[in-house]
Amino acid sequence: MSSAAPSPKTFRVKSFGCQMNVYDGERMAELLAAEGMSAAAEGDDADLVVLNTCHIREKATEKVYSDIGRINKDWRREDGSAPMIAVAGCVAQAEGEEIMARAPSVKVVVGPQSYHRLPAMVADAASGKRSTETDMPAEAKFAALPKRRKSAPTAFLTVQEGCDKFCTYCVVPYTRGAEISRPFADLVEEAKLLVAGGAREITLLGQNVNAWEGEDDKGHTVGLDGLARALAADPDLQRIRYTTSHPNDMTDGLIAAHGELEKLMPFLHLPVQAGNDRVLRAMNRSHTVDSYMALLERIRAARPDIALSGDFIVGFPGETDAEFEDTLRLVDAVGYTQAFSFKYSPRPGTPAATMPDHVPASVMDERLQRLQAAINRDQLAFNKASVGKTCDVLVERRGKLPGQWLGKSPWLQSVHFIGKAEIGQMVTVELVDAGPNSLAGLLV
Ligand code: 5AD
Ligand code: SF4
Repeated sequence: MSSAAPSPKTFRVKSFGCQMNVYDGERMAELLAAEGMSAAAEGDDADLVVLNTCHIREKATEKVYSDIGRINKDWRREDGSAPMIAVAGCVAQAEGEEIMARAPSVKVVVGPQSYHRLPAMVADAASGKRSTETDMPAEAKFAALPKRRKSAPTAFLTVQEGCDKFCTYCVVPYTRGAEISRPFADLVEEAKLLVAGGAREITLLGQNVNAWEGEDDKGHTVGLDGLARALAADPDLQRIRYTTSHPNDMTDGLIAAHGELEKLMPFLHLPVQAGNDRVLRAMNRSHTVDSYMALLERIRAARPDIALSGDFIVGFPGETDAEFEDTLRLVDAVGYTQAFSFKYSPRPGTPAATMPDHVPASVMDERLQRLQAAINRDQLAFNKASVGKTCDVLVERRGKLPGQWLGKSPWLQSVHFIGKAEIGQMVTVELVDAGPNSLAGLLV
């Protein structure tokens, strides 16, 4: 049984996981603000807490329950009441009913394709009615969101959602649903609003962002390269990035755009996951090591200075020592400038979870350490090799030292420098020193 509570006036959205969740979190905050609620300042009480959860790896559900417990215990407001809790995101999608049953303090459960319903659900909760909404797909959601008002030099723009690839380890096709592309005109409009709010760099987001397809203003079917070209026509937008891409969706047009479109940054996150064909087959990755390497060759031919990033899973069920060594060999051959690596984590309901020969935790730990050492070695080598270059840096924020500023190089390296600048400005620096995670620049 639930009882009525006063309508929340302040809110806090806590987003976990991927950049798509960051984007969704921003949109939920905009929805609540459009209803007259205001974001609680850091350290202040909030009447409503939205936990925007991630389900991709390890212990996601337990984490949600411990967060709920902590909010009930530590986040009591001055009058002794606890904030209203809404659980959103992929854990909400996968485990919504169980959360409702197990956590009475949760009043709203809303999946990633239904969060446009959040304000109505919060209002229901205030009048005593708990509700769960996990409908798919997402078409209705974007149409129902308020116009964007975000102001920052860098912005995310979700262009595509969902995934039809069904890699055997992955929950995304179940939590985010089938692949959908947002319409071209909507994206051009949202990008305009972001640029009007000060965005100089836009990162196009999607679980399979390079599978995006739409109809342009002339009625032609275009891929992500067509969208990037249209957005690049805005003189105030200076940089375009996109993530995450699937190797099989790297079209000729998109590869060519890397050579032709100056605003398309020379950085590509292109997960391979493993460096052995048997493992890739068991993962249902639908590419081989050779086809991936051949693809990189074509991309590098179009844009020789492109910086490459990737995702890796170690300890997929059945992965032998020799198969893992193949992953290290692939890393050596590619020379990633940064990459993410994870221990395999069984996701309930995915095919890999019930495959035989799960790899012991200690073996996964050792493999992860060796892989990360190789990735870190290449990242440092890339940063050191950048010293002496002159490049543009888009200033994103102030640094810790007086007069210091932080921004990104075209290759997505963090660069700090001291001097006269302002947020949102594109400055030219000479890179003079490099560490594993950042570079020092001198204004030129
Ligand atoms: N276990 C470990 N890592 C995973 N990823 C996705 N599912 C799993 C899983 N079950 C990783 C993949 C993907 C990234 C976003 O998360 O490397 O590219
Ligand atoms: Fe998951 Fe594979 Fe789809 Fe990426 S391509 S979201 S890893 S199923």
